[in-house]
Amino acid sequence: MSAPRTIGIGILGFGTVGQGVWKHLSEKQADLESRLGVKLDLRKACVRDLKKKRAVKIPAGKLTKNPNEIIDDPKVHVVCELIGGTTKARELTLRALRAGKVVVSANKALLCEHGPEIFAAVRQHGGQFLFEASVAGGIPIIKAIREGLVANRFELIVGILNGTCNHILTRMGVDGLSFADALKEAQVLGYAEADPTLDVDGIDAWHKASILAWLAHGKWAPSNRTLVEGIRNIGPADIDFARRFGFALKHLAVIRRDFKANWMTVGVYPALVPNRDILARVTGVNNGITLRGDVVGATTLTGRGAGGDATASAVIGDIVDAIAALTGNTNSGLTADSLAARESQGKKVRMADLPEIVSPFYLRLSLLDKAGVSEGIYRIFSKHKVSIARVIQYEHPNQGRGTVTLSTYPVDELKMSKVLTDLRRLKTVLEEPVVLRIFSPES
Ligand code: NAP
Ligand code: HSE
Repeated sequence: MSAPRTIGIGILGFGTVGQGVWKHLSEKQADLESRLGVKLDLRKACVRDLKKKRAVKIPAGKLTKNPNEIIDDPKVHVVCELIGGTTKARELTLRALRAGKVVVSANKALLCEHGPEIFAAVRQHGGQFLFEASVAGGIPIIKAIREGLVANRFELIVGILNGTCNHILTRMGVDGLSFADALKEAQVLGYAEADPTLDVDGIDAWHKASILAWLAHGKWAPSNRTLVEGIRNIGPADIDFARRFGFALKHLAVIRRDFKANWMTVGVYPALVPNRDILARVTGVNNGITLRGDVVGATTLTGRGAGGDATASAVIGDIVDAIAALTGNTNSGLTADSLAARESQGKKVRMADLPEIVSPFYLRLSLLDKAGVSEGIYRIFSKHKVSIARVIQYEHPNQGRGTVTLSTYPVDELKMSKVLTDLRRLKTVLEEPVVLRIFSPES
């Protein structure tokens, strides 16, 4: 069979995740098409209520209440199951797989509870079932275990796998919100499950831990052999204890494996994590996963664990993998076509000019120790409209010189270079200024 040159995509569910996928697929369509060497056809999305207001625009004819219009459409090659739950989602997933389609899913409950049945259908009908979005939102943890870290056996996988719990614990701990208010906020932001008891009682994290354990060790962890605890009982006194004694309170999923004794344990529970551990610093909706591999050592991935955009990123990654497999283009990152597409994309990109590169700066100046020196320095900053944020002055008695350290508010590289040129001209500046950029990945 020759590879399809137009790939049809259908989306079951147009809620938080479904709308994110539609929006970003539409926006990135041209770029993805040139990278993959195929046309993408966003065929239809299925919902329960056609009248519901949606944040993402979709042509009226593209929305349907009937999932068969997607599953039975011969022009749909990839079905995204973004409905949730385990009843209708199971039925539609199995039907799509039996029709030989690729199913891309964010549904950890479905995979955890019906994984063997789903993979049996994949084997029998030759489709694919891809599920990157089911664990840790936008973090490509499934791909990391399956591909990048394939050389490893993992004696420990420990992670913060539920964005809602981490959001609640952070908002209670840092901002003093009540449990109920923090949960409401997570629901409004689209982080929580349709039934949020799955989040706060630890079931969602157990679903995800179970998927990771299966991926790493080939065994599904039964719920009656897994310690599953949620965060309902966490109160202000627990948070206060953690803060006083150098811990962060986190909801953890812990998968341990003893390769000699050949056992595995899976547990999800709230725990005190020492502040020095990288997972203690994973806050808000973010997830973090540390994998201790026998070859690589400890590797930690962190990033947004819930929300429409982060999850759409993982779903679209799976769609691209599926298309690569459908078209026989399994090296989608580096084929001649995709290299050419990157090159032509690169031709439209220019390097930023100095006025476009902005950050706060730190300076250390060695100055002559006499009256009026500071005024000369400040005049230069003011002339170039560079605003100073902080200043510390150090005296060096009897040496005739002093040290001034200062930081600025964000300023562009051109302005800063003009400030430095003027500073160097001053006779009162005794040495070449030490200049550091103040870097934050968030800015
Ligand atoms: P959601 O906002 O509740 O959206 C669910 C969508 O499915 C809605 O559009 C709903 O239609 C539709 N739907 C539900 N039952 C249906 C049925 N029987 N027939 C047709 N359509 C139906 O849920 P979500 O947050 O996007 O989550 C979807 C899936 O992604 C779940 O498996 C969830 O666990 C998973 N996930 C979510 C996140 C996240 O951050 N939200 C992250 C990772 C994974 P109406 O809009 O008309 O009600
Ligand atoms: N409800 C889930 C969470 C969504 O909060 O982590 C992401 O799987």
